[in-house]
Amino acid sequence: MTDGPDIAAVVRPKLFQPLTIRGLTLRNRLVVPPMVHYRCGPGHTCGTFHVVHLGRYALGGFGLVFVEATGVEAVGLINEHDLGIWNEAQAESFKPLIDFMRRENTAIGIQLAHGGRKSSSQSAMQGMGPLTEENIRAGSKVWQPVGPTAEPVAPGWLMPRQLTTAECRAMPATWARAARNAVKAGFDVIEIHMAHGYLLASFLSPVSNTRNDEYGGDRAGRMRLPLEIVEAVRREMPDTMPLFVRVSSVDGTKEGWSMDDTVVLARELKARGVDVVDCSSGGIAGAATAAQVPRSLGFQVPFAERVRREAEIATMAVGLILEAKQAEAIVANGQADLIAVGRQSQYNPNIAHHWSHDLGINRRFEDWDPEYGWWLEKRIKTMEGFATPTGSVTRSA
Ligand SMILES: Cc1cc2nc3c(=O)[nH]c(=O)nc-3n(C[C@H](O)[C@H](O)[C@H](O)COP(=O)(O)O)c2cc1C
Repeated sequence: MTDGPDIAAVVRPKLFQPLTIRGLTLRNRLVVPPMVHYRCGPGHTCGTFHVVHLGRYALGGFGLVFVEATGVEAVGLINEHDLGIWNEAQAESFKPLIDFMRRENTAIGIQLAHGGRKSSSQSAMQGMGPLTEENIRAGSKVWQPVGPTAEPVAPGWLMPRQLTTAECRAMPATWARAARNAVKAGFDVIEIHMAHGYLLASFLSPVSNTRNDEYGGDRAGRMRLPLEIVEAVRREMPDTMPLFVRVSSVDGTKEGWSMDDTVVLARELKARGVDVVDCSSGGIAGAATAAQVPRSLGFQVPFAERVRREAEIATMAVGLILEAKQAEAIVANGQADLIAVGRQSQYNPNIAHHWSHDLGINRRFEDWDPEYGWWLEKRIKTMEGFATPTGSVTRSA
């Protein structure tokens, strides 16, 4: 990974300097993390909703945008409305989105996911828990999930079927097929979802993985399946293509996965060609990001910082990063290499551009697409005396 040119370093805040990872150069360090929106097209394909929804972030100035958790196989869909990438038709369906993002100079990644024992669960708006009788009566699709054991996530959740040893051995090929489809579709980046209690997180954590075959037991045994999957996915990717892994840095329970474990895992990921560790947390015992980890401003940044320092791998910080100065300080202080902005980008899809204004660059709207920037630049003069260039009124009429 190499930093941007020195000239840029003098003028531009670090957040808005380019970053090269393998063969991919991002225009800045701002990333939209994967966020499911339950709007797949027929057959779990990508349709107009996702082109519009994710395209807004390209127009809004982000360097990299991730497609939400996308199923590597049908049984691993977290919810019946999620995207999939296990077949050709699904892979093809991403092409209009990818073409659009490429023309906008925003990289496009995909998060490959398997829900494990949290598959066939509620959408966020339904409560993000197990499907209720009422949900099922109202038409929610229910199927039996799979997991490291036949233990449910918690009382009330669906009883998973335990994956056999042979099925675990076959699982890397399932992920490899999805990775192959993602490469063929033209994605710039792949992220493996190893967080939030879904399949791979549930293999890592001693809370959920009590298997006694080669895929359970001590930490090395529990890491075996996730690492075999990383190897299989990496093999399908060109050398120039970056691979990210999202981890739950800590389960947030005393007996669960810890930061020491994450540092060990991150070293193993790095040895297998992973480029960036995306440091999230929680989710082993309930809703996807169940608040077992106390939440405050930038609460997961220390996880990204420690992984970066101790495993010597690039990291992405995520979680309640709300303002430009906060984001800039994280990258400038070397706590993380990339900043993911989730809900704050839902609130304001143009936030990357807005933050560049906040940090004193992009003053003439030169980073905006010209069809926007030309007009906004011309408006500056018109508003002199009563409003700032970005439209804050300074003197009322
Ligand atoms: C609507 C929504 C959907 C999400 N879906 C995913 C997902 O598909 N995969 C994932 O790893 N995390 C998912 N998350 C977690 C976000 O990627 C992010 O880590 C979290 O929202 C914290 O960042 P924030 O405070 O900037 O929103 C989702 C979050 C939201 C709000």
